[in-house]
Amino acid sequence: MGWLQSLVLCTLAACCVARSPPQPFLNPLPQQAQNPSPLVSRGCNDSNVLTFAGFALQDINREQKDGYVLSLNRVHDVWEEYQDDIGTLFYLTLDVLETGCHVLSKKAWKDCDVRTLHTSVYGQCKAMFYINKPGRVLYTPAYNCTLRPVSRRKIHTMCPDCPSPTNLSDPEVLEAVTESLAKFNSESPSKQYSLIKITKASSQWVVGPAYFVEYLIKESPCTKSQESCSLQSLNSVSVGLCEGSLTKTPEDKFVTVSCDFFESQVQVPASENTDATQGPPILPEAEDPSKKKLSAFPIPRGSVQHLPDLDDEKAKDPQEKDPQEAFPVQLDLTTDPQGTTVDVSFLFMGPEEKKLRVLPFPKKEQHSTQCPSPAKHTSPLILPP
Ligand SMILES: *[C@@H]1O[C@H](CO)[C@@H](O)[C@H](O)[C@H]1NC(C)=O
Ligand SMILES: *[C@@H]1O[C@H](CO)[C@@H](O)[C@H](O)[C@H]1NC(C)=O
Ligand SMILES: *[C@@H]1O[C@H](CO)[C@@H](O)[C@H](O)[C@H]1NC(C)=O
Repeated sequence: MGWLQSLVLCTLAACCVARSPPQPFLNPLPQQAQNPSPLVSRGCNDSNVLTFAGFALQDINREQKDGYVLSLNRVHDVWEEYQDDIGTLFYLTLDVLETGCHVLSKKAWKDCDVRTLHTSVYGQCKAMFYINKPGRVLYTPAYNCTLRPVSRRKIHTMCPDCPSPTNLSDPEVLEAVTESLAKFNSESPSKQYSLIKITKASSQWVVGPAYFVEYLIKESPCTKSQESCSLQSLNSVSVGLCEGSLTKTPEDKFVTVSCDFFESQVQVPASENTDATQGPPILPEAEDPSKKKLSAFPIPRGSVQHLPDLDDEKAKDPQEKDPQEAFPVQLDLTTDPQGTTVDVSFLFMGPEEKKLRVLPFPKKEQHSTQCPSPAKHTSPLILPP
């Protein structure tokens, strides 16, 4: 009788389980009960999650010295662990798009437009984001991102005449940069500018070959007349991001240029094109006591990796790649399933020690159900699998 009863109960339970989404209290597996994962999945469209994802991306952008500001397209996945007295650690997977703002401009990603589809660069970031509300702490302990340009082949089938990315070392690219910067300087009333670095190039056949370039320039201390050479401010330098083009026809050439300036606090990166620059070397960053104090702390750690067009990689290795591997992003502070602890005491005013537990980053297979969130830009060409 007892045996039969339990069988009936069992069947009923199985029935319930089959009909409704699995509820943890219905069939807790013994192993899980002993060792429950402390990670809880959240809806990717949750407004708090979207806010934290935005903060994390802001941190990532602020850390970069090179490249363009990344914009959040959608939250791909999110897990969290609440830790008593410490706060919550989020494990975020973010689908991102490159914008037209250079990272040195320090513009917020929300104020930057993503690139038009045929020039898109897209990818994925993994980030850990730590929040402690009472302590007013928002912190990104670690991140890593992988980006690729949009598939040239797919763009070409949609838009055969669209410009395609061009190697920055092509002599025609340097020619387009030189010509457009010369035009900018000739139209400048007094100040003169020199090239820091070429950041982007594409080309297209119009009435002849056309090259489109983006590059950074900086103000030269000397004016056109060379009569007054003012000293540049020590801790800030005026940097411009320029868009230029050079179109050639058999008889003529057309040059366009426009530049957008910002004050750059950080030291402008050294470039391979230094031989092309006319101005003096960038002055070293001024000593700032508050910065010194900050750098004693573990600053957010990670990098943004640029990979080639996925089609080029497939052509090299015809063995069909697992689509999950299209954007490999590694972010593991530990491989121990029990996790490791990270000292976060420096984020708090008090003297007590605060240790945050960090687990291995959740695997892709453990996808939470309400993810990803709706994408802002929905073209399948720019959504990582
Ligand atoms: C996502 O959230 C927004 C705002 O809360 C809501 O309007 C939208 O319908 C949600 N989308 C989905 C797919 O849940
Ligand atoms: C660009 O060209 C240079 C030299 O011509 C070459 O070394 C480099 O690999 C090329 N880069 C790409 C992304 O094709
Ligand atoms: C971030 O990615 C790089 C490779 O691009 C890897 O060497 C590094 O270990 C990764 N960081 C973490 C915390 O996993």
